[in-house]
Amino acid sequence: MAAAQKSSAVACMCAALLMSLSVSAPSCIPIKGVYYPSWSNVDPSSIQTNLYTHIYYAFLTPHIATFQFQIDQTQAPLLLNFTSTLHATNPALITLFSVGGAAEGTSLFSRLASTSSSRAAFIHSTIQVARKFGFDGVDLDWEFPQNPTEMENFGYLLDEWRAQVQKEAAATGQPPLLLTAAVYYSADTFLTGVPRAYPAASVSRNLDLINVMNYDYHGAWNKSITGAQAALFDPNSNLSTSYGLRSWIRVGVPRSKLIMGLPLYGRTWQLKDRRVHGVGVAAVDVGPGWNGTGVLTYAEVVEFNKANKAKVVYDMATVSVYSVAGDYWVGYDDKRTVAAKIAYATTLGVRGYFFWAINGDYKSTISKTASKLWHL
Ligand SMILES: *[C@@H]1O[C@H](CO)[C@@H](O)[C@H](O)[C@H]1NC(C)=O
Ligand SMILES: *[C@@H]1O[C@H](CO)[C@@H](O)[C@H](O)[C@H]1NC(C)=O
Ligand SMILES: *[C@@H]1O[C@H](CO)[C@@H](O)[C@H](O)[C@H]1NC(C)=O
Ligand SMILES: *[C@@H]1O[C@H](CO)[C@@H](O)[C@H](O)[C@H]1NC(C)=O
Repeated sequence: MAAAQKSSAVACMCAALLMSLSVSAPSCIPIKGVYYPSWSNVDPSSIQTNLYTHIYYAFLTPHIATFQFQIDQTQAPLLLNFTSTLHATNPALITLFSVGGAAEGTSLFSRLASTSSSRAAFIHSTIQVARKFGFDGVDLDWEFPQNPTEMENFGYLLDEWRAQVQKEAAATGQPPLLLTAAVYYSADTFLTGVPRAYPAASVSRNLDLINVMNYDYHGAWNKSITGAQAALFDPNSNLSTSYGLRSWIRVGVPRSKLIMGLPLYGRTWQLKDRRVHGVGVAAVDVGPGWNGTGVLTYAEVVEFNKANKAKVVYDMATVSVYSVAGDYWVGYDDKRTVAAKIAYATTLGVRGYFFWAINGDYKSTISKTASKLWHL
């Protein structure tokens, strides 16, 4: 399965191939990914594995000095349980472990990627961990390379990783591990820090899938104005999923590898005036999201709406929804916005979608809607 996925991702012209060559059908399946936060208390056996094609265990982090993973006696059985439970319920499901994450920051990755020996130590360890614990691949979640040098090192890391993965597959006769990465919403437009761009050629040639993080466009870091954190369109800026996906296409990354990110969480604000409640209106604080972060999972938004008899508004301009209750405001994605985004993404010709994160869904309703809508 992993082998089929890999070769297919190189050149998947789905409709054309399907008509002429039925054997390639499995290679063109849409990708339906989801991240599984290990701290979320979701029992792997409770996951509806028919709703997804790829599940990412989040996160494992290598040692700060050796750049190798040290899986301890507590973690090892959990990893084995994760992969064996998922493969038992759906043998076609692809399992990956994701390295890093937003909370990890950048300094570890910056050092890890900076020399060929540190890269080699890391790469060797990722392959060992994947094989030992039954994962089909590895996902890199470096948020984010900070400057052009780090972008260049990111490219070297992918080149060397790909070479070692192919070498290991040839030596052991197993399908090569999948290599994927979670990347910034745009390939070359960074809103903070120094101007920089991803090494598009390396990304294209080495990664099987590119998970574009099409969210976090607005949030608690700007308390003075509400925003659609995962707007599909924005008439006033380039902070949007449509701009971001197109930027990845513009720099030459194959559409067959691009995966649209969908958030299973919303972001909250406290309005300045409860009667003025659109997207982009005045706010005074972060609102009811967890502990000052302004974040609520989609499941929590559903509860919030019920508990507060919130008014729910669909914003056509951004393709987002928001709920208002008193002076509390929360912007998020629901079944309608996810359907509209999937229609957009299929027209654009990208390969699929992924969610951050599985524990945010409400009784799998969004996952079910998405899975039903994106078929061959
Ligand atoms: C995984 O863990 C669960 C809960 O602890 C347990 O019920 C199940 O039998 C384990 N499954 C495997 C395949 O080890
Ligand atoms: C908040 O957003 C508004 C509107 O986009 C912008 O004018 C302002 O500079 C932002 N403030 C901060 C602190 O980012
Ligand atoms: C959006 O990005 C394009 C380049 O991709 C640039 O020409 C344009 O000025 C940007 N628009 C805004 C509002 O920043
Ligand atoms: C909430 O935020 C406060 C202040 O930032 C912090 O001290 C506390 O540990 C946080 N609590 C949780 C549960 O994250």
